Amino acid sequence: MKDFRLSNMVVLLLCISILCLVHLTQARKHHLKHKHKGSHKSQPPSTSPTPEPVAPEPSAPKPAPEPAEPPYNDGSPITNSSGVFDVRKFGAAGDGVTDDTDAFKMAWDTACQSDSASSLILVPRGFSFMIQSTIFTGPCKSSLVFQVDGTVMPPDGPDSWPNNSSRRQWLVFYRINEMALQGGGLIDGRGQKWWDLPCKPHKGKNGTTLPGPCDSPIAIRFFMSSNLTVQGLRIKNSPQFHFRFDSCQNVHIESISITAPALSPNTDGIHIENTIGVEIYNSVISNGDDCVSIGSGCHDVNIRNITCGPGHGISIGSLGKHNSRACVTNITVKDSVIKASNNGVRIKTWQGGSGAVSGVTFSNIHMDNVRNPIIIDQFYCLSKNCANQTSAVFVSDILYDNIKGTYDVRSPPMHFGCSDSVPCANLTLSEVELLPAAGDIVLDPFCWNAYGELQTLTIPPVSCLLEGVPNSKLDNSDKGYCS
Ligand SMILES: *[C@@H]1O[C@H](CO)[C@@H](O)[C@H](O)[C@H]1NC(C)=O
Ligand SMILES: *[C@@H]1O[C@H](CO)[C@@H](O)[C@H](O)[C@H]1NC(C)=O
Ligand SMILES: *[C@@H]1O[C@H](CO)[C@@H](O)[C@H](O)[C@H]1NC(C)=O
Ligand SMILES: *[C@@H]1O[C@H](CO)[C@@H](O)[C@H](O)[C@H]1NC(C)=O
Ligand SMILES: *[C@@H]1O[C@H](CO)[C@@H](O)[C@H](O)[C@H]1NC(C)=O
Ligand SMILES: *[C@@H]1O[C@H](CO)[C@@H](O)[C@H](O)[C@H]1NC(C)=O
Ligand SMILES: *[C@@H]1O[C@H](CO)[C@@H](O)[C@H](O)[C@H]1NC(C)=O
Ligand SMILES: *[C@@H]1O[C@H](CO)[C@@H](O)[C@H](O)[C@H]1NC(C)=O
Ligand SMILES: *[C@@H]1O[C@H](CO)[C@@H](O)[C@H](O)[C@H]1NC(C)=O
Repeated sequence: MKDFRLSNMVVLLLCISILCLVHLTQARKHHLKHKHKGSHKSQPPSTSPTPEPVAPEPSAPKPAPEPAEPPYNDGSPITNSSGVFDVRKFGAAGDGVTDDTDAFKMAWDTACQSDSASSLILVPRGFSFMIQSTIFTGPCKSSLVFQVDGTVMPPDGPDSWPNNSSRRQWLVFYRINEMALQGGGLIDGRGQKWWDLPCKPHKGKNGTTLPGPCDSPIAIRFFMSSNLTVQGLRIKNSPQFHFRFDSCQNVHIESISITAPALSPNTDGIHIENTIGVEIYNSVISNGDDCVSIGSGCHDVNIRNITCGPGHGISIGSLGKHNSRACVTNITVKDSVIKASNNGVRIKTWQGGSGAVSGVTFSNIHMDNVRNPIIIDQFYCLSKNCANQTSAVFVSDILYDNIKGTYDVRSPPMHFGCSDSVPCANLTLSEVELLPAAGDIVLDPFCWNAYGELQTLTIPPVSCLLEGVPNSKLDNSDKGYCS
């Protein structure tokens, strides 16, 4: 134990001295740069200049404390004018076995405190880095690029993870403004052993599901951050969600690929929550759960040219769980393909919620063998005996435009199941043509308390939408709350 502490101290001291060095060399640069930097940084750094270990110590007790040898260095300075911080210069081994967490943290802290106009943390190609659950914390002094050209992966499976809250997340980026996570590399979540836990659906003995907590880590989580770009990466086999953005602003995701097996539980591709201004472009996602899921508090979301499937499709929700209020507005999904999925474009809300989903456009979407290609489910319930409640999230102003392709005949191609007390309003269908993927049985669309209109005839024909404006049975003063 003492040895462990001692070596930690040495590492910390080493850290501090390196940072001092960096600080000194940077001070001159900063002095020169200061003039045209202008008001780039409006706030004085509120944190003390001494970098403290940012993340809660995530590592499991190590077999042997590492000797406090200096990080690998070929003689070049640890940072250089180009602002490139190679994790290997901070001691990362990149052999796929060694725990490289400390090197990544040190590279992060150094880059984050660097005064260069922009700092790049390099995860070089040809190496595989094993790192534990880590919180990369900002704010940083400049914008950052986290360049992943190699492979990054967590310890393999639940037995190698600490038994505490860090089990819920692996790579966390917290309070960062302006960062790009990019590169041609791979982020491999090594999810298999997590998916096979006996508490996962039907993974217990004889296909049972063992009760109890079943935490599994989200691969990449951005929390309270802004002006983020994720580009070019491949991410695969997360133990749980691949990406989760909470309370973020201005998120741009482009040209990424996410893959996990169709039967991997809960492996949503990209989940956003309380996040404003999101663009997801030109990406391919196949997994075992929602392709993209949009939670409460999101608005101004634009999704274009993505290919989903196999998986569970694109989902707004679930919203209103445990009588919560949810507001989701101004969402556009267009020019995309959804294939071999349980759902196509879905809005799902629990009974008893409040708030609203409005201003949603699904446009130019090709469905290929999709069950429930178009679905609104305001009776979302996982247990089958949820109590009937009057309050509901109000769903309105939803446009389905140019949605064509084939559906899996186990369910009708269109399903609008709206609340008894707060019916859906202003659903618009235009150019919707959905044919059975196999056979020639055509199922009738289903509507319940759904108000809206057809701009063109649809295939199959929809005759169940109600005309006009619903007369809400609730004196729903909630309705205006969201806008
Ligand atoms: C989790 O456990 C590890 C190892 O026991 C410990 O180092 C870490 O601080 C813990 N993390 C949290 C968030 O409690
Ligand atoms: C300095 O920059 C060069 C690229 O210009 C890079 O190859 C090198 O690894 C950098 N040094 C460190 C310590 O990151
Ligand atoms: C976590 O707990 C399980 C059983 O409770 C144990 O088998 C496993 O070794 C523990 N993992 C760590 C890293 O302590
Ligand atoms: C699993 O099923 C087999 C055969 O049906 C039975 O003998 C065994 O007791 C079951 N095991 C459990 C844990 O339920
Ligand atoms: C994000 O970037 C924009 C434009 O560069 C800037 O105006 C805004 O202040 C940034 N957001 C935050 C939270 O700093
Ligand atoms: C759509 O995304 C794919 C990648 O999935 C890309 O190859 C293609 O060029 C994109 N199309 C457009 C029009 O941007
Ligand atoms: C809707 O979101 C888009 C970005 O996706 C934004 O450009 C537009 O201004 C928003 N519309 C409204 C009415 O806020
Ligand atoms: C809820 O209402 C539906 C239809 O009105 C009814 O069939 C169902 O039994 C009710 N469920 C409960 C749990 O009361
Ligand atoms: C109905 O919804 C569409 C968007 O789908 C919107 O443009 C239109 O203004 C809405 N109509 C009314 C009466 O609110």
